[in-house]
Amino acid sequence: MALINENYLKLPGSYLFSEIGRRVNQFKKDNPEADIIRLGIGDVTRPLTPAIVEAMKQAVEEMGRFDTFRGYGPEQGYDFLLEKIIDHDFKSRGIDVAIDEVFVSDGSKPDTANFQEILGLNNVVAVTDPVYPVYVDSNVMAGRSGQFNEKGQFDNIVYLPCTEENGMKPQLPKTRVDMLYLCFPNNPTGMTLTRDELKQWVDYARENKSIILYDAAYEAFIQEADIPRSIYEIEGAREVAVEFRSFSKTAGFTGTRCAYTVVPKEVMAYDSNGNAHSLNKFWLRRQTTKFNGVSYPVQAAAAAIYSEAGQQQIQENIRYYMENARLIREGLINLGYKVFGGVNAPYIWLKTPDNLGSWEFFDKLLNQANVVGTPGAGFGASGEGYFRLTAFGTRENTEKALERIKTRM
Ligand code: MLT
Repeated sequence: MALINENYLKLPGSYLFSEIGRRVNQFKKDNPEADIIRLGIGDVTRPLTPAIVEAMKQAVEEMGRFDTFRGYGPEQGYDFLLEKIIDHDFKSRGIDVAIDEVFVSDGSKPDTANFQEILGLNNVVAVTDPVYPVYVDSNVMAGRSGQFNEKGQFDNIVYLPCTEENGMKPQLPKTRVDMLYLCFPNNPTGMTLTRDELKQWVDYARENKSIILYDAAYEAFIQEADIPRSIYEIEGAREVAVEFRSFSKTAGFTGTRCAYTVVPKEVMAYDSNGNAHSLNKFWLRRQTTKFNGVSYPVQAAAAAIYSEAGQQQIQENIRYYMENARLIREGLINLGYKVFGGVNAPYIWLKTPDNLGSWEFFDKLLNQANVVGTPGAGFGASGEGYFRLTAFGTRENTEKALERIKTRM
């Protein structure tokens, strides 16, 4: 008799975005005429830019000829992409990252979910609340949590509330934690940390020999010059932090799939005898065993992002989305909503009016305005009473959604 991994029994029924999809499909079935605007899942709407498409086409052509065909590539990624990542994303900002510290992958979702595998099961995990659900669920699946409790949280996971009172900025844990997930610019609140604020987390991790799993998937959307784009801008971060970066939102790769993770060789975790082991070595071991790399055409497309034309084109798209963010943010403020985010991130986090629960507001918005958003409660207990809208829609839909919120809500 095959036994199930009972950790899966602790998980609530479905993944947040699957549940939203289910409810929207039901609504569509019941209201086939409704013109639904989707500002729920953070999925891009602008197509891949010409420089990216051209590079991908050329790479596909190469794959179809004997002399340029490529089979398995290096699991960590091709040097032509790794070198561009290092030069553009780090060296140009004064950050030292070596080529064997970067691991190209098919997404930050899998990387943030998988990375915990190389860390001990007895580690205490801390997450912000609200939180991108992948960090929590992957640790629950691995067995690092107790049961899902009546507060809507898992026992044995440390939640760091981000609330109106603390301006959506988490406070340092009061007890020692070993693995700390931070995402800035934040999904879902759209908030960022200043350099000094981020430094407190690095200092905490150095003092406690904890590891920071830093999700920087939205760094390209930062507009203000003094907000750190990488945790490695903070002194000492190379000793304690792993950083996840993605081309999904930066360059429209949600359907193309390419990302990378930086694992500095100094980041250590310890065995039960207290001996230190470099996570870089273990992540390489894990990836070479379980992953065969990202396809050549996709890596060639990703490399094209770093060309002059590629940069100019993706920046244009980022400006487009951030203008949506501004419209949503200012539009909602003018309507009297309390909002967070939307300045350095493509997410707007609003407080639901009239004390409505997050799912109640979701249903009301869907029924009355035919607009889909994401209920804050889906990101954790502290998200109850909040709601997330994304700036990744088209301009037309963004403006239409705001107009409907104004007139129908
Ligand atoms: C979101 O809507 O939070 C994102 O699409 C999630 C993701 O990138 O996986």
